[in-house]
Amino acid sequence: MTIEVEAPRITAPAKVNLFLHVGDKRPDGYHALQSLVAFTRLGDELTFSRDPELHLVLRGPFAGALEAEADNLVLKAARALQAHAGVTHGAAITLTKNLPVASGLGGGSADAAAALRGLSRLWELKLCDGALRKIGETLGSDVPVCVTCTPQWMEGRGEKLTEVKAVPAMPIVLVNPGVGVPTAKVFAALKERRGTGLPLPPKMETPAELLAYLKDNSNDLEAPARAIAPVIGEVLTTLESQDGVCLTRMSGSGATCFALFDSDEAAVKAARAIGERRREWWTAATQIEST
Ligand code: C5P
Repeated sequence: MTIEVEAPRITAPAKVNLFLHVGDKRPDGYHALQSLVAFTRLGDELTFSRDPELHLVLRGPFAGALEAEADNLVLKAARALQAHAGVTHGAAITLTKNLPVASGLGGGSADAAAALRGLSRLWELKLCDGALRKIGETLGSDVPVCVTCTPQWMEGRGEKLTEVKAVPAMPIVLVNPGVGVPTAKVFAALKERRGTGLPLPPKMETPAELLAYLKDNSNDLEAPARAIAPVIGEVLTTLESQDGVCLTRMSGSGATCFALFDSDEAAVKAARAIGERRREWWTAATQIEST
């Protein structure tokens, strides 16, 4: 008797760098980092079903931005997994792209990690998270952290991960002004950096504890990204002026910024107000997932 594997449906959530400090440049050209990474409820959606060949269908509000790409990271992930596990059949994959592309939210990396998880289930490979992370490392710095999508302490160029035991859920608003800031350019413009000397964060069970911890750190890439794309400063000022806002910051190398709020109502109201005022910006209210 063959047991049909249920077609996996996986959310690839937005990754948010709650803070990001940059250390020295390494011999491989990458800078060492320290970052507390969390994930939101909102994300891209992927489905996987059996097929002799590999196919990818793009849907959703940001599908257009990916259609021009010769090779999607999801297909690269699928091929890397095929090669690792000696799989010769394919899969039909649909990616509903809800998150803006190349925006500091790790969307492409989360999609690639979701493809590794979904296909590993579809193809019944029984690979552990550690094995999927190793394959993910070959696809991009942010892919390993997206394999479990749980709050993590990230070091190295992104491959050294430690599970953070307690990060509370919090309402969050994400705003992307629709400008691309190439990561390499942001690192090249970096002048001041905080270095990578922090110990692991303490247990943070309440929003107040998380906010107290975050106020002592920052995103070192915010200043160079703002210098390249001054609209990032406008996004941050707009977020800061909303009722109920607790903390505003840029994520990754930008240009998406986020604000943490004291209630879901305040977050939803702020997202609506910003969206009405700046229709060319992408704005979303969601929640940080707790540990
Ligand atoms: O990770 P990704 O390949 O997108 O990075 C693009 C560029 O950004 C790298 O080639 C490097 O110049 C810079 N970078 C860095 N340190 C990191 C990540 C990226 O210097 N940790």
